[in-house]
Amino acid sequence: MTIVNKTKMGKKGFIDLDVDKSLNIVDEIKRMREEKNAVILAHFYQEGEIQDIADFVGDSLGLSQQAAATEADIILFAGVHFMAETAKILAPEKKVLIPDLQAGCSLADSCPPKDFEAFIKSNPGHTVISYVNTTAEIKALTDIICTSTNALQIVESLPKGEKIIFAPDRNLGNYIQSMTGRDMLIWDGACHVHEEFSLERILDIKKEYPDTQIIAHPECEKQILIVADHIGSTTSLLNYTIKDSGKSYIVATESGILHQMRKASPHKNFIPAPPKDSTCACNDCKYMKMISLKKIYNTLKYELPEITLEQDLMDRARGSIVRMLDISNRLKL
Ligand code: 13P
Ligand code: SF4
Repeated sequence: MTIVNKTKMGKKGFIDLDVDKSLNIVDEIKRMREEKNAVILAHFYQEGEIQDIADFVGDSLGLSQQAAATEADIILFAGVHFMAETAKILAPEKKVLIPDLQAGCSLADSCPPKDFEAFIKSNPGHTVISYVNTTAEIKALTDIICTSTNALQIVESLPKGEKIIFAPDRNLGNYIQSMTGRDMLIWDGACHVHEEFSLERILDIKKEYPDTQIIAHPECEKQILIVADHIGSTTSLLNYTIKDSGKSYIVATESGILHQMRKASPHKNFIPAPPKDSTCACNDCKYMKMISLKKIYNTLKYELPEITLEQDLMDRARGSIVRMLDISNRLKL
């Protein structure tokens, strides 16, 4: 067998080895998962074929709840780096694998820890709420983490009048502020996918198909949220399309979620919201789409790349995530 170690993986961030063509890659992944007592967790933005082999497919909150509760020895995270990092912080005794270490997040990148620390210091007396789409260093500077599923409830769980720093997504922050009227200082970060949707092109579709509803993730810009019939996390958008009596939806979030929507409601029509630049596939998250079945196969086989974090950093970051999970459990989210 080829010896693969961190050095061999090199700077690429993933194991670049071909899979024997005589093997059925899906069957092999399932076999190794069983053999190694591994669990595959996948975000809704992953390719359909990856969602279909996962033990659990979900949104950021659901995935962190699964990571905290699993009895598997290995967690293979089909998602982006901050998600696998969160899993490692919640389950430090487990081996947490990510098929490509370069699968980052433009939103997490928009909040550098040194700048954020200085921002907190220059605004004393605030409770710090950060979106889960952040590095472990940011989580260590945060009082309570939130996701798009629970951001509203977490902000509302604080006493009225409490001053809040909210980071890093300006669109989610502004949306929550408009819903709660709370005193919030909002970090100026954004996600490259959710800022790409074109209002003009969405409204053109709506003109052509007036019965189509617009559903949007709160990371979208305000002009998109204003025209949306429903705003929510990926799970909330999916559930809305299942329960709603409508037949057609323009979906303003990363296109991966359409896989579950089409599976759950094959008789309905789902249209990915078009981006401003008609020549690009900007509603695909380039980081989420770095994960492939081949990389998952190699990751399970060689148990690399592995997420490793300093114990001290994990200990400082854990409290803010656990607080979020406790509030979510209490509210049955
Ligand atoms: P949710 O998984 O909370 O819906 O958030 C979407 C997202 O942008 C993940 O990166
Ligand atoms: Fe980050 Fe945006 Fe990709 Fe979500 S869709 S992982 S926020 S870059």
